Amino acid sequence: MRITDIIEKKRDGNELTKDEIDFFVDGYTKGEIPDYQISALLMAIYFQDMTAKERALLTSAMVESGDQIDLSAIEGIKVDKHSTGGVGDTTTLILGPLVSSLGVPVAKMSGRGLGHTGGTLDKLESVPGFHIELSNDEFINLVNNNKLAVIGQSGNLTPADKKMYSLRDVTGTVNSIALIASSIMSKKIASGADAIVLDVKTGAGAFMKKLHDAEELAHAMVSIGNHVGRKTMAVISDMSQPLGYAIGNALEVKEAIKTLQGNGPKDLTELCLTLGSRMVVLAKQAETIEEAREKLTQNLANGQAFAQFKKFLASQGGDGSVADNTDLLPRSKWQIDLPAKKSGYVSEIIADRIGKAAMLLGAGRATKDSEIDLAVGIMLQKKVGDQVKQDEPLLTLHTNTQDVESVKELLYSSIAISEQPVKAPTLIYGTIED
Ligand code: URA
Ligand code: CA
Repeated sequence: MRITDIIEKKRDGNELTKDEIDFFVDGYTKGEIPDYQISALLMAIYFQDMTAKERALLTSAMVESGDQIDLSAIEGIKVDKHSTGGVGDTTTLILGPLVSSLGVPVAKMSGRGLGHTGGTLDKLESVPGFHIELSNDEFINLVNNNKLAVIGQSGNLTPADKKMYSLRDVTGTVNSIALIASSIMSKKIASGADAIVLDVKTGAGAFMKKLHDAEELAHAMVSIGNHVGRKTMAVISDMSQPLGYAIGNALEVKEAIKTLQGNGPKDLTELCLTLGSRMVVLAKQAETIEEAREKLTQNLANGQAFAQFKKFLASQGGDGSVADNTDLLPRSKWQIDLPAKKSGYVSEIIADRIGKAAMLLGAGRATKDSEIDLAVGIMLQKKVGDQVKQDEPLLTLHTNTQDVESVKELLYSSIAISEQPVKAPTLIYGTIED
């Protein structure tokens, strides 16, 4: 087999076979095929696209390029949730305890964040003592006994994707649905889940800014998952404004705790119930979405989800009393309000700019090696659709520096106020199951 023939075949719009796809993925991972040939092939894929079958084959080839996590020692159907990323997205912290409180095993592998705010690991580390260094056996035992554990990403997962993603980044080939969908799904599948619920975001703070693109990506990922035998569903949700009110690590932990106590922001709670009910159905802990939602709502109200969160923190060395007394979480030195310059209705809170502002305060990483400050971030006081009076705070900066003029300027440019009443944006645009 020759790589030049594969490049020409795709350039001319033909479907590649399993052998051809395995050949280039394997050859590239081992360094036997050079960057320039894979660059040409990726560009051909960018223009000619891939069929559903090719996308599934590419995903499987990338999964097989490295280690695969074996979760078979965990009883029950392991369901994972994946979000395509947003601003102030605290759902993972809530969904873990919430769905596992109904007996759904959650074996979560989590990473650190890049950009906006930290990842789930960073957020959990704002709980004193909490650690994610578990042996494989400890991890499996914790999930079997408590139904929930979180471990850091380890091992050599999907090296082919790592190499190709870096190459795509510098060859103008990131923005291909076929390549994005295979890239994301390969990582999820290698992490061992039996079933996957995807939260595909749309709007200013999302990777896919347009609804149509988000839907196309969701269909592509659901198709890949189901092709390779992992039951997959997707929810399309709004990321035009940040989710909930908190953006920043400890602030989001506090928001997660409130939500687990049944007092969370409306949008965050609704998204958790929407995603969670699908996870519970896929794990066969309820027959219908309605039944699952009912059970989840009950566990938010009766304290079971909150109790599960405390048990989870303690099981990994964390100070569970933080959940009862959130003053024990890291706190910033200063809280500075951002007053509205005029009265009216909030018509826009541009999520990616708010995320950037939180990062500038130190809540997120500009580069992989940046240090983050767990205490800092932004608490929105208003959401789109809310009425505001002049001088009333739009949001509060939680900061460890008083030098925040440029951040304030960025924040003012992120929030619009209109004289006319404005409706809150749609939160859930739909669900995709095939
Ligand atoms: N995120 C990924 O993991 N892969 C892509 O290709 C794009 C976004
Ligand atoms: Ca939030």
